[in-house]
Amino acid sequence: MEPAAAAESSAQPSGPPASPTARSSAAPGPPAAALPFDDLAAGYDDVFSHSAIGSLLRRPLQRRLRAAFAAGDRVLELGCGTGEDAVNLARHGVRVLATDASPAMVAAARRKVEDAGLRDLVEVRRLALEELTRLGEPPFDGAFSSFGGFNCVRDPRGPARDLAALLRPGARLLLCVMGPLVPWEWGWFLLRGKPGKAFRRLRPGGAAWRGLVIRYPSIGAMKRAFDPEFRVRRTAALGVLLPPSYAGSWAARHPRLLSRLDRWERRWETLPPLPWLADHYLLELERR
Ligand SMILES: C[S@@+](CC[C@H](N)C(=O)[O-])C[C@H]1O[C@@H](n2cnc3c(N)ncnc32)[C@H](O)[C@@H]1O
Repeated sequence: MEPAAAAESSAQPSGPPASPTARSSAAPGPPAAALPFDDLAAGYDDVFSHSAIGSLLRRPLQRRLRAAFAAGDRVLELGCGTGEDAVNLARHGVRVLATDASPAMVAAARRKVEDAGLRDLVEVRRLALEELTRLGEPPFDGAFSSFGGFNCVRDPRGPARDLAALLRPGARLLLCVMGPLVPWEWGWFLLRGKPGKAFRRLRPGGAAWRGLVIRYPSIGAMKRAFDPEFRVRRTAALGVLLPPSYAGSWAARHPRLLSRLDRWERRWETLPPLPWLADHYLLELERR
């Protein structure tokens, strides 16, 4: 929204852009990144996680997470939101330290973990991506970030450096990031006479949203940020034939087409240039 649907659909950019980094280093307490997401936490699962499109996008992501991490692994999640993926992994025996900058998201994730009876496997902590050096933990077996946490970061090279120190050699790192080039979105907003929204991902320096700046790093930019400590194993599209999640009304009118698009997208998800033209891409890295 902005990182996924809840934000994209309801977001009206407002206020001066703020930097999560600036706020977190200037004052104790939640960084600026937390503020808009606090407002979204209560409705997030209804608007995104449990929506038709959101579910279709999360399913392949969770398949890749389960392929990357095995029962007994200890994994770090960044920008966990309401904890959907942490709970899913824990149901398969993976131990997760789930972190997020937003206190309301952390509270929602804790409730979900509690309700699922998975407290022994999932710990939820408030921690921003810019604060990873605060984690005094032994090396993790892997890490991941789903649906846009990294889009809220000013410069991914900081977390990349910190993650290199936190992950053991051979550990997998899966990053699900909103990309800059999305033909679906261009068509959607141009047809509605909103060229500014259609091309906002291309704005140099990022797009203002609820007092944050959302950035849309290309696959190449993310690879460079994580090089040379990480090597790329796989790149896939999430939402290239499937529409972005704010197109829920369209999806509801075209259920058969939606499931056909889902089948085709999954079949061709790694085929260039599809990952480069998707709402989100899933970059799978390995710590050297
Ligand atoms: C779109 S949500 C995705 C949540 C979840 N990963 C999912 O798949 O549904 C993005 C999450 O990133 C968190 N976030 C934003 N900026 C962050 C930062 N600088 N550090 C840590 N988390 C951040 C937000 O609070 C929010 O929960």
